[in-house]
Amino acid sequence: MSFKTQPAAPARPNRCQLFGPGSRPELFEKMAVSKADVINLDLEDSVSPADKPQARKNVIDAINDVDWGNKTLSVRINGLDSEFWYRDVVDVLEQAGDRVDQIMIPKAGNGGDIYAVDALVSSIEMAKGRKKAITFECIIETAAGLAHVEEIAAASPRMAAMSLGAADYAASMGMQTTGIGGTQSNYYMLENGEGDGRAVHYGDPWHMATVAIVSACRTHGLLPVDGPFGDFSDSDGFLAQARRCATLGMVGKWAIHPKQIALANEVFTPSEAQVQEAREILAAMEEATRTGQGATVYKGRLVDIASIKQAQVIVKQSEMIKG
Ligand code: COA
Ligand code: MG
Repeated sequence: MSFKTQPAAPARPNRCQLFGPGSRPELFEKMAVSKADVINLDLEDSVSPADKPQARKNVIDAINDVDWGNKTLSVRINGLDSEFWYRDVVDVLEQAGDRVDQIMIPKAGNGGDIYAVDALVSSIEMAKGRKKAITFECIIETAAGLAHVEEIAAASPRMAAMSLGAADYAASMGMQTTGIGGTQSNYYMLENGEGDGRAVHYGDPWHMATVAIVSACRTHGLLPVDGPFGDFSDSDGFLAQARRCATLGMVGKWAIHPKQIALANEVFTPSEAQVQEAREILAAMEEATRTGQGATVYKGRLVDIASIKQAQVIVKQSEMIKG
């Protein structure tokens, strides 16, 4: 191991991030009583350009007036290539109270994007005497974002989380699909052989970006999150996508419809069986250590000192969520 130890990610649940357009204030109370851990009030792509000023006002009122309980409250600002983003930051941070926790920066392309928002936020925080520092999350959803993902993760101590934004990512990469996450029918391999009836195996076209985000996040102590799954009628498709991401180290996923909240919470909460097994592995290793062994057998398979760390990931995540 490098002598530089891996920093811990923020110890807060981030299983589901529920989005709602800033232009639909009738949704805000419903979002607040939902079971999502994080709320994203959107000023960006779910709000049409003509509605941006009104959406900003709605979001400011909602931050001030709605009881958000203990949820992490985040506002997605417009992209740095737009005419809107600076006013999103200025108005929200000047006019909304301290209840807003986080700003989501979409389409982050390099560390400079994060630095620019940091400079503006820092100045407003000083001017307003804000007590609690705003944290940042960003979306990796462009070719440049993927190319500079580690630089982005390291760009500011405010950085707390990163999501993969499948739709913009696909567009920026020039991918031949209009799907938002999930299985893509043209991304497959065929079983070896000839003729009809060869088995089709679907690959995961989001895999590389997912792993790059997890790696950047784990290196710099951020929470890696999977973004939207567009087809909210397809619960099984959502679950499959979420389970792959959980297996790869992500801690949560967006919901773009309330139907998806329980699904995300289910996948990203370690199950009783997983926790039980992890505890048994820890107990087996404790016994092994006591008798001077670095490795032992648990249910017919090897467990060793690395298994302690794997098991601790599951136990700690479970305890943090329960706590
Ligand atoms: N948060 C909370 N509640 C929501 C919701 C949301 N994001 N979206 C819908 N609901 C509510 C509806 O108000 C409705 O409530 P009711 O039963 O009390 O009437 C119920 O859930 C069912 O909604 P439904 O009619 O199926 O959805 P819709 O047609 O009103 O809206 C979408 C569908 C996809 C347009 C809407 O869910 C939405 O805007 N999602 C977020 C989009 C977004 O923010 N995108 C940016 C990130 S990718
Ligand atoms: Mg996007």
